Amino acid sequence: MGKIPQADGPGGRVIRLFCLVAAGFLLPAAAAEGPGKAAIASAHYLATEAGHEILAAGGNAFDAAVAVSAVLAVVEQTSSGIGGGGFWLLHRASDGMEVMVDGREQAPAAAHKDMFLNEDGSVNRDLAVNGPLAAAIPGEVAGLAHIAGNYGRLPLARSLQPAIRIAREGFPVYEKFHWILSNWAYDNILRWPAAREAFLLEDGSVPPIGHVIRLPDLAGVLQQIADQGPDAFYRGDIAQRLVEGVRQAGGIWTMEDLASYEIKERQPIYTEFGGYELVTAAPPSSGGIAIATMLNILEAWPLAELDRVQRTHYIAEAMRRAFRDRALFLGDPDFYEVPVERLTSQFYADGLRASIHPGRATPSDMLPGNDAGPERGDTTHFSVLDADGNVVAATLTVNLGFGNRFMVPGTGFVLNNEMDDFSAKPGEPNAFGLIGFVANEIQPHKRPLSSMSPTIIKGEDRLGALGTPGGSRIITMVLLGILDFMEGNDAESWVSLPRFHHQYVPDRISAEPDAFTAEEIAALEAMGHTVEVREHAWGNMHGVLWNRESGEVTAGSDPRSDAGRAIVR
Ligand code: DON
Repeated sequence: MGKIPQADGPGGRVIRLFCLVAAGFLLPAAAAEGPGKAAIASAHYLATEAGHEILAAGGNAFDAAVAVSAVLAVVEQTSSGIGGGGFWLLHRASDGMEVMVDGREQAPAAAHKDMFLNEDGSVNRDLAVNGPLAAAIPGEVAGLAHIAGNYGRLPLARSLQPAIRIAREGFPVYEKFHWILSNWAYDNILRWPAAREAFLLEDGSVPPIGHVIRLPDLAGVLQQIADQGPDAFYRGDIAQRLVEGVRQAGGIWTMEDLASYEIKERQPIYTEFGGYELVTAAPPSSGGIAIATMLNILEAWPLAELDRVQRTHYIAEAMRRAFRDRALFLGDPDFYEVPVERLTSQFYADGLRASIHPGRATPSDMLPGNDAGPERGDTTHFSVLDADGNVVAATLTVNLGFGNRFMVPGTGFVLNNEMDDFSAKPGEPNAFGLIGFVANEIQPHKRPLSSMSPTIIKGEDRLGALGTPGGSRIITMVLLGILDFMEGNDAESWVSLPRFHHQYVPDRISAEPDAFTAEEIAALEAMGHTVEVREHAWGNMHGVLWNRESGEVTAGSDPRSDAGRAIVR
């Protein structure tokens, strides 16, 4: 794919406008139709600022997305990084091109179906999530290079600069980082000297909020990538160091695994709802298909007019059915024939809807029951809209908080534990209580099924982008955000909404502490639902919105996290 023709960025636009006006011409349609302002919402203020820095340097939304991703890879290693991967969903204003850049991690060649099973056939949960065996081959560096090279206007090296600077100069520990480090990752980070040295104080304690963490090794790695391109990571020095470090610690990566990693461009999943077109994540994400199924089921009911209990009932029943299909039919499309057309068709959804009783919950007892483990994961989502109307919705991950908590000495970044997104054994729950079968079993070079659901919503009057971390809950959070968009609300509303979730098994609606009143819970239970009110809220949603009618550009950053920031400039 060649470079796109020079589009207009915020800086270039002013100059061009002047020239064109001076020459007596009208602006070309793409530039004239742009919002004229940019919005970026991400999980960290330094990342949001870096995105705007790159726009101000003449970059477009795609360059900004590279910068935001790279800064998050430094300051939010709880959630994503160059040891992980993700999906970047791109919308280009000039020609309407849309693509999902699939930088999902991939199983190494020596991976096999039963690699996480103990001798007695049970799943070794520790091996599946902690240490080098849990790590799949990272895709983020390839993703950033691909986006910069094919869609950006600036060189990769320029867009990596803010991340390199911040890795070298350091960033202050913030509340969420401190909390995940103390509560979820501490014991396992202690196991690996390089991770311990990078994130803990010399005495092995968790640094206090405000303490500045510097990651000179990571700055060096990023600088090498800036100087030599992605080959430095996949074939050169860094690859050598990664393979040696992983193997010494008991892992199975080879140089060939890294060298053969490739970005895949996927056609997004398209679906319509309420007069809007949704552009969302394709397999190996399950998100877009599940969202399409749920919206197709829900389109028959005037949701906004229903009382909250009835509305919740219908939505939970749609969630239940989409998650059943997720477990049975979804996996890496390069390895398993995913019935995309059927699952996203209105006809199929009409059939599913016909099985929903208006006043009774359908028991989910067609599959063996299981319990969702405590939610220990983290991932990151950001949304970018530039002044020309280009949009990026990106969800990136290392899977659980600080990934597999393992760091190869001299690199400064943790590796992912995305291997746990495969189904280690048919019907056995992973860290998010998700089950799967043959479609998502482990195979060499296969990509594990994901729930990450970056989504763009397009209409004549409004253009929005949203997404969030949250494991299996990502899909249902994005659904609720879409429904809120449909009710005319803005990004701040989508990201703040109280959340509830159903994933087929376990058979219950889980709810944030303030999602329902006691009366609403009683009414749902009377319909046959089990409602579990969770102790903690979940998610970290970041969205942007351009109201084409009013010209207003807004952005929203989830109030549940302290470090996130939405800036319109
Ligand atoms: O790709 C996935 O679906 C998971 N690895 C995402 C993990 C996640 O969102 C954890 N956040 N709470």
